Amino acid sequence: MFDFNLFDIKLETSLLGRNFIYLVEIASTNTFILDKKNKIIKDGSLVLAEKQTKGKGRRNRVWYSEKGLNLNFSILITDKKLLSKNLNILNLGVSLVIANSIENLYSVQTNVKWPNDVLINNKKVAGILLETNSQGNSIEKLIIGIGVNVNQTSFMGEFNLEPTSIKLITKNNIEREKLLAEILNNLEYIFQKIRSNPNSVLTDWVNKCNSIGKRIDVNQDGKVLTGVFEGLEENGFLLLKVKDKLNKIYFGDINVE
Ligand code: BTN
Repeated sequence: MFDFNLFDIKLETSLLGRNFIYLVEIASTNTFILDKKNKIIKDGSLVLAEKQTKGKGRRNRVWYSEKGLNLNFSILITDKKLLSKNLNILNLGVSLVIANSIENLYSVQTNVKWPNDVLINNKKVAGILLETNSQGNSIEKLIIGIGVNVNQTSFMGEFNLEPTSIKLITKNNIEREKLLAEILNNLEYIFQKIRSNPNSVLTDWVNKCNSIGKRIDVNQDGKVLTGVFEGLEENGFLLLKVKDKLNKIYFGDINVE
């Protein structure tokens, strides 16, 4: 069970997670917020589910997570000022916050992987799925879906990147409440930074990425490009040097060779 008192004691946000919807089982927390009939409208609302039956991953993949062991949650953002900012940078910023939150609380070295995975020992500990709902040209709402492998210790199935969990690394049972509060506290802070100085988030992300300067494969729906990961350009896209040419990569899965 999720201990709300423990969560509340650690939560220091003014907005994020203050409207908290706890669900035992749902198809997907992202889909739940997107569905108008659930009437989730307050900026910063958070929906957490102990089990998702149709958890969604990036690029139409499935996100599997055992019941009650991990953190699977989505946050609704409606703040126009934040939504008018570059959502790629926001995406990178969210992965950076999760990496830093895990590192601060459990003293384990984490890294980020483009575009938005969080790694420990080059295995995936968390993933993020952003979804938007647009009205005409402007984005009405953004849903930030976050899945963190916390206390799960075995993972079945085929994975594009080998999974791990915080418990597998630290050998300790982890208090999900404390971790969730830490993530939300740090997210609120980075959202402020994105509003005022988004470039600094790019710099921090680059410093937390351990594949820059390395040869990588970029898989774009089966088409593979190989080159050196040179860094990020100003909008958060990946710069790949192939022979002498610098290519801007907008999407894809990367693998270090
Ligand atoms: C990925 O790495 O492919 C992204 C995984 C995102 C999973 C989270 S769990 C909570 C939220 N609800 C979903 O259906 N997906 C996201």
